[in-house]
Parts: sequence; C-alpha cells; structure tokens
Amino acid sequence: MEKIIIVGGSVLRGKVRPSGSKNSALPIMAASLLSTEPIILHHVPRLVDIETMAQVMDVLGAKVEWTGDHDLRIDPVGLSSYEAPYDLVRRMRASIYVLGPLVARLKKAKVSLPGGCSFGPRPVDLHLKGIEALGGKVSLEHGYIMVNADELVGAKMNLAGASGPSRGASSNVMMAASLAEGVTVINGAAQEPELVQLQEFINSMGGKVSGAGSDKLTVEGVSQLKGSEFEIMDDYIEAGTYLVAGAMAGEMVAVEGDFSANLKPVLASLEETGARLEVGEGKVTVHGNPRPTAVNITTAPYPGFPTDMQAQMMAYLCRGRGSSVIRDTIYPDRFNHAQELLRLGADIVREDGSAIINGVEELSGAYLMASDLRASAALILAGLVARGETHVRRIYHIDRGYERIEEKLGQLGAEIRRVEEE
Ligand code: EPZ
Repeated sequence: MEKIIIVGGSVLRGKVRPSGSKNSALPIMAASLLSTEPIILHHVPRLVDIETMAQVMDVLGAKVEWTGDHDLRIDPVGLSSYEAPYDLVRRMRASIYVLGPLVARLKKAKVSLPGGCSFGPRPVDLHLKGIEALGGKVSLEHGYIMVNADELVGAKMNLAGASGPSRGASSNVMMAASLAEGVTVINGAAQEPELVQLQEFINSMGGKVSGAGSDKLTVEGVSQLKGSEFEIMDDYIEAGTYLVAGAMAGEMVAVEGDFSANLKPVLASLEETGARLEVGEGKVTVHGNPRPTAVNITTAPYPGFPTDMQAQMMAYLCRGRGSSVIRDTIYPDRFNHAQELLRLGADIVREDGSAIINGVEELSGAYLMASDLRASAALILAGLVARGETHVRRIYHIDRGYERIEEKLGQLGAEIRRVEEE
C-alpha cells in the first residue's frame, strides 16, 4: 500500500495543467459501445477509474488499448456480452454507464447494482426510470439490474429526482435514446459540461442530440452510429483543486487549460475569500491568500457550486478568518474529510448535511486516512500548509481521479513524495 508524505510550508509558484476530464471520459468510453466502428479518444487521463472502465468494456467484448500516453483506441465491433460483472462494478459506480449502450446495442443488459460509497447512498432509480420509459423491461435480481427490450422507442420523460437532476441518469438515457426508434425528450436533465461533451461525442458518431447544457435534452434516434476521433476536455475539478492549492500555499500559480467557464461558482467563492484571480485566455492565475475570509458555500446541481469541490474548499477554510458554513445538498453525508482535518488541529463542527468551519491560525501535520476521491485531495491540500509532516494513507482513492498529483504539486514547489507504506 502506498502513502503520500507532505512537508508543509513550501511556497507554490509556477504553472500546472490538469489532465483530461475523468467524468467526461468515463461516459464517452461507454458511449463508444454504441458505435459499430473504431473510436479514437485523445487527452484521456491515466487514472485507475479509466482502467476499470476499460476492463468492463473488455469483458463485454470491446477492445480498448492505449495508443499513446493519453490516447485510447476502442473497437466496439466485438461487443457480445451484455453482463457487467459485480467484481468490476463494485470498484467503480460509473460502470453503470454501460447500461444504456448495452440496452441500445444488444436490447439486453445485466449490470451489477453499484454499491453505495463512503459518502452515502448512490441510488440508480432515475437510470431505471428512463430505461423503462424507452421500453426496457427492468427487474432487480440477486443484486443485478436486468433489462430486456424488444425495441427501444423514443419517449418524453422527466428525470429530475428529489435531490435534483442526475448526471448519470441523464447520460445513460441520452445514450440509449440515441439508437431508439423516434424522438426522446428528457426534461429535468443534468446540465453539467460533461453532458455537453457527451452530446458532442454522440453527434460526432452521427447521432442527433441537442439541448445539452440546459435542463431539456432532445434525442432523435438513428439506426447506426459510426466511428469518431474525439478530444476529451480539461478536467475542471482537477483544475479547481490546483487553484485552491495556489490560494492556500501559493505565491502565484497559473493553472493552464480551458476550464474557467465551467468553474464560475468556484472562482466566485475563491474571490469572496480574498484570493486574487486573473482569468485569462487558456489559464487562470491565483495569488496566494493563506488566511481566507470566511465564506458560506452551498453545493447545487450545475451551474451551482459543484459538490466535487466542497472538500477542497473546506481544507482552505480551515485557516479562515472567522466561521464558514459548507452545506452539501447533493450528498448530505459527504464530509469524511472533516473528521481527518480535525486531526490536523482544524475546528469543524458537523451538522445535518453541513459543516461549520471555525478558522484557526495554523494546522499541524499528522497521520491521515484518505477515504473518497475529493476528501483525499482535501487532505493533501491541508498537508501543504500544516506545520511539519502529514502522511496521507490509502492513496489509491486519490489515484482514481488525479493523475500524478504528487508530481504536479511537486513541480509547483511542494515538498511531497509517494512512498510504500512501511
Ligand atoms: C456524478 O456522479 C459524478 N461522477 C460525481 O463525481 C459527482 O459527485 C456527481 O455526479 C454529482 O455531481 C461521475 O461523473 C463519474 P448524479 P453521479 O446521478 O452521476 C441522486 C467524483 O468525485 N440520484 O448526478 O452518480 C444522487 O443520490 C464523483 O468525480 C438519485 O436520486 O451523480 C445525488 O444526490 C463523485 N437517483 C444526485 O441525484 C439516481 O438514479 C446527483 O447524482 C441517480 C442519482
């Protein structure tokens, strides 16, 4: 098992570039199964989750191979099995993205129910509601989602759930509908940039999808989807993570890439804390502000403040001037990082669905345990400013969503290294 050791106190300067977006690449890899011709993807991040998705697709009969550092070639012509096995799906919830393509291509699917994760239940009822609306007969047997469909017929539906729209369900149904007979209208759709990329990708294969980025998707089914060569967008959550690192421990850090339009609420919160940002062409520069003004943050579906950035902001606000409140309306239990930050001397009080962060002068290094992906990133960030050494263990969580984070932060001047756990 590996861990990351950080010696706090270094001043970060220079520039860093995020990898391709994990949460765009995963659905687009699954959508490749809709095609009957080879797909080439560029700017794909080298992450554990990408490898897991490749293994799922391999089991289904599609050939997935790296043709370059960040280039994937997917040949879906051999798609033959309709079963995504438990031992792979339990490793990564996003495996459920193969459900829509399997039903569309094979009219059958057997996908293990994804387990919950360390920050609470992750239901799939909206995915199933959409697949049923298209004519899929859905049943749950022995922990598996079973779907049979004579044919898929376009339908009108609303996929918003109790806690708002679902990115996963909107993606799965967009994919299934792209090969259905007739037109599908999805109201209450998620509006994330990843849906816009998925729409662009499906249309690059000859699909007819419109409306992504709004809450209403329209999909005109076609009989076949062709090959395509496509570039994955920059990971705006990874970029936001490095912007927070720069605000916490930087003198001046430039995060390069085309992501600022996707991070507006995060940039606004950073400015509200007193961090100075320069939003330029193809990069955002942040000037360090180690003791931020306390702010309140409430996560919301896109274009609101992303739940995937609240842990990182909590790490920053631990040394805030005053008390901040972070409320997560998407995942009310997504606060594993709070317990670990207390070990560094932070003063955080948990309440239902939220956390109150009373800023302290300084943090001191400790042994910490990573849990979910963004909580792990928050612990690394806190280690950058904690006095002495911070050891973050179980960093396989972080390798699921951050490519070589210790190298990227090291390039900025952080004293950080990955070692084998003794
Ligand atoms: C995606 O998960 C992301 N994962 C998550 O990022 C992100 O936190 C999440 O969206 C919210 O933005 C990927 O893109 C691979 P949802 P997803 O369906 O699709 C509820 C990371 O850190 N819901 O948009 O599973 C659900 O409980 C990961 O990279 C239902 O009620 O999220 C949640 O409250 C972690 N029924 C809300 O909707 C359903 O059928 C949003 O979930 C599906 C979801």
